[in-house]
Amino acid sequence: MRAPIAFATRHAMMAAAADIIAAALNQGVARRGEGCAALSGGGTPAPAYALLADKPLDWPRIAFALVDERFVPPTHEASNEGMLRRALAPALSQGARMLAMYAATARAADAAAAAEAVYAPLSFDIAVMGMGADGHTASWFAGAEGWDAAVDATTGRSVVAVRAAHAPGAADRLTLTRAAVLRARRIIVLITGREKLDRLQRALAGAAPAPAALLWEGPHGEPDVLWAP
Ligand code: 6PG
Repeated sequence: MRAPIAFATRHAMMAAAADIIAAALNQGVARRGEGCAALSGGGTPAPAYALLADKPLDWPRIAFALVDERFVPPTHEASNEGMLRRALAPALSQGARMLAMYAATARAADAAAAAEAVYAPLSFDIAVMGMGADGHTASWFAGAEGWDAAVDATTGRSVVAVRAAHAPGAADRLTLTRAAVLRARRIIVLITGREKLDRLQRALAGAAPAPAALLWEGPHGEPDVLWAP
């Protein structure tokens, strides 16, 4: 693992992340006429998204996708889409689009199939990943039902359903597959706190396996880790 890009404060890290995401989206707009970022949920990245949404980007040409979602409606407190809609409100009100991963289907697998139709054609200018203290990223939880499909680096599927009993917020999840995340032109991982950094470094040293280490496996370049205490 390359050394993480370390910041003295979380605010400095969030501001840098917002700048990186904005630059990637601007490049997408310049190259393809549209920009698309795949964004993780959880608690960590919301301030970066809020700083991003205050920037003067060409918002009608920009779409936000989710890296993963809890199988709950956007009004639920655990919804990643709900968090993203709040943090990104200024951008959404200026024409940016939110590409929902959740759908109100009876089974998570049906929502994943519906999301597949929207997500399969997407070109991600950047994927913003997080990591849980247990070492998961996206909804790649070790031991989850659906694990093999989720971490398949060569599958043609972009979105699958997984079920992980101990996942925060909701056991039923929808997630980008590893193949879909690796399509992103750039991957950044936002982590805070010494515990998560130690967990990631141990995984990458081979001392304690963690799903997040799968982002480093393969022919693509290493993700950039942004870290603050
Ligand atoms: C989710 C996420 C997930 C997140 C990590 C870290 O829906 O849970 O997208 O992969 O990035 O769990 O979450 P925190 O930032 O809350 O620690």
